[in-house]
Amino acid sequence: MFEVLENEILAPELHKLTVKAPRVALARKAGQFVIVRADVGDERIPLTIGDADVASGTISLFIQAVGASTRKLVKIPVGGFIRDVAGPLGQPTHIEKWERVVCIGGGVGTAVLYPLVKALAQAGNKITTIIGARSASFVILEKELTALSQDLQITTDDGSRGLKGQVTRVLAELMTNPESSPSAVFAVGPGPMMKAVAELTRAKKIPTIVSLNPIMIDGTGMCGGCRVDVGGEVKFACVDGPEFDGHLVDFDLLRDRLATYRDQERKALDRCSSDKCKIGS
Ligand code: NAD
Ligand code: FES
Repeated sequence: MFEVLENEILAPELHKLTVKAPRVALARKAGQFVIVRADVGDERIPLTIGDADVASGTISLFIQAVGASTRKLVKIPVGGFIRDVAGPLGQPTHIEKWERVVCIGGGVGTAVLYPLVKALAQAGNKITTIIGARSASFVILEKELTALSQDLQITTDDGSRGLKGQVTRVLAELMTNPESSPSAVFAVGPGPMMKAVAELTRAKKIPTIVSLNPIMIDGTGMCGGCRVDVGGEVKFACVDGPEFDGHLVDFDLLRDRLATYRDQERKALDRCSSDKCKIGS
């Protein structure tokens, strides 16, 4: 059992849970994740380890309440418990010192990006961070990422904060100037965003690392649920990733596979909204 010590709302439907998990806090590296179950028999949810504090033995998990299981998780109050937290899983981010790095977070993907930016900053990189969001209320971790970056830019789809438009608009502008053009790009967010970033950097052969979020079940390379195609090879995001070379990822296959259980997810959510469901109560 893993105690929830804090439960903070960062944006609509997005919570940050601080969870007591000393062994995970000690072992984890940037880019790794855990698989959690709110209770026995519940769905297994992969969550990036947003941050860890070894002294207090805690980890931070950012959870977007999009389905029945994630809604149940974010309703766990302070002092309540998560049944299982398994990890750390996955490969740590490959960190090196680049000349200039651009780090791009789209929506809730910004939470996944945060530990990468922290590790890159600790390695002495000069970082430009771009946060993209639907609107102002979905911009997250601005203060934390500003502290780690030389420059931070915000875009919103509706123009309610920062530049109106998408993150690729800022990246394209940075790439036109040799002074600001990056030597590496890290992008985490919706598949279409990561695909658009990778298309932009491909022509200039700028190394582009993306973090993939396919459906996961066991998280140990056994079930094949997280299968992705990278450069024509089958990879399992849980053991080979979740970060891959964005220029080699088949984003269309990822999109199709993510849609596999959409009907079942909708039905679970409907059941959860009906009187019969006890989830989260
Ligand atoms: P969102 O729909 O609000 O979009 C976030 C940002 O991405 C916006 O700024 C939007 O303009 C930008 N974007 C979307 N399509 C784009 C494109 N084609 N070109 C450039 N920019 C584009 O995102 P959200 O609701 O916060 O996040 C939900 C999505 O993020 C889901 O698809 C989820 O699967 C994905 N996600 C990915 C990861 C990961 O590790 N890659 C982690 C969590 C969530
Ligand atoms: Fe089962 Fe990756 S989650 S193989």
